[in-house]
Amino acid sequence: LARAFNKRTKAIIINNPNNPTSRVFTLDELQFIASLCQKWGTLAICDEIYEHMVWDGRRHVMFSTLPGMEERTFTCSGLSKTYNVTGWRVGWVIAPAVYTEALRRVHDYLTLSAPTPFQYAGICALESPPQFYDDLVSEHTALRDRLAGHLQAAGFNFLLPQGSYFFFADCSPFGFEDDRQLAQYFAEVLKVIAVPGSAFYQPGQNTNLVRFCFAKPLEMLDLAGERLLALASRVKN
Ligand SMILES: Cc1ncc(COP(=O)(O)O)c(C=O)c1O
Repeated sequence: LARAFNKRTKAIIINNPNNPTSRVFTLDELQFIASLCQKWGTLAICDEIYEHMVWDGRRHVMFSTLPGMEERTFTCSGLSKTYNVTGWRVGWVIAPAVYTEALRRVHDYLTLSAPTPFQYAGICALESPPQFYDDLVSEHTALRDRLAGHLQAAGFNFLLPQGSYFFFADCSPFGFEDDRQLAQYFAEVLKVIAVPGSAFYQPGQNTNLVRFCFAKPLEMLDLAGERLLALASRVKN
């Protein structure tokens, strides 16, 4: 990363917790990135929409709270993930006033405003008590662990998600040509949906990964687990 920075580096986009890898950056890593931003006068555009979805006692560090970063960070977040309303498309950006004037002008031309009822619902959501966020963590941890068991039984290799609600699993043991072929087989034959990981990379890169979402009812995860067992017979020894 240090080699990629130079005096022409205007901005870096950081997505933490990360979709699709489920990685949560450590304080040390974020401080290192912040030091590069300061050294090269780089702005940080931080997508922290999974800010409340960090597992196993981890803590989400808002990049803007690191020393010297408030004046050069755009913090982006939204309602979708924390409050289970993907599809509403209500989000926000917190940035220094010197930048928000331009942002607001662009916003005015592109979207004008978020739908009014969703904004009122957003106020209710943002007033949720602290218990809501504790429950979110315990409920999602149970869902994560359940799907982890099913993926393991089916023969996938993966790291346990640190944050967000995705598994990014290696599908090479199953003998499919690539992630897209596997995703198609899943949809057509197993009736389980997985997102081909290559969608997140340059063409042709990393074609051995698929993304599963565990923000689903337990029963649905169990049903998917049963269907995925059919894969075990395909595992090459
Ligand atoms: C990292 C990340 N940022 C932003 C979004 C989009 O959020 P919204 O539902 O507000 O459009 C998503 C949704 O998939 C996401 O994974």
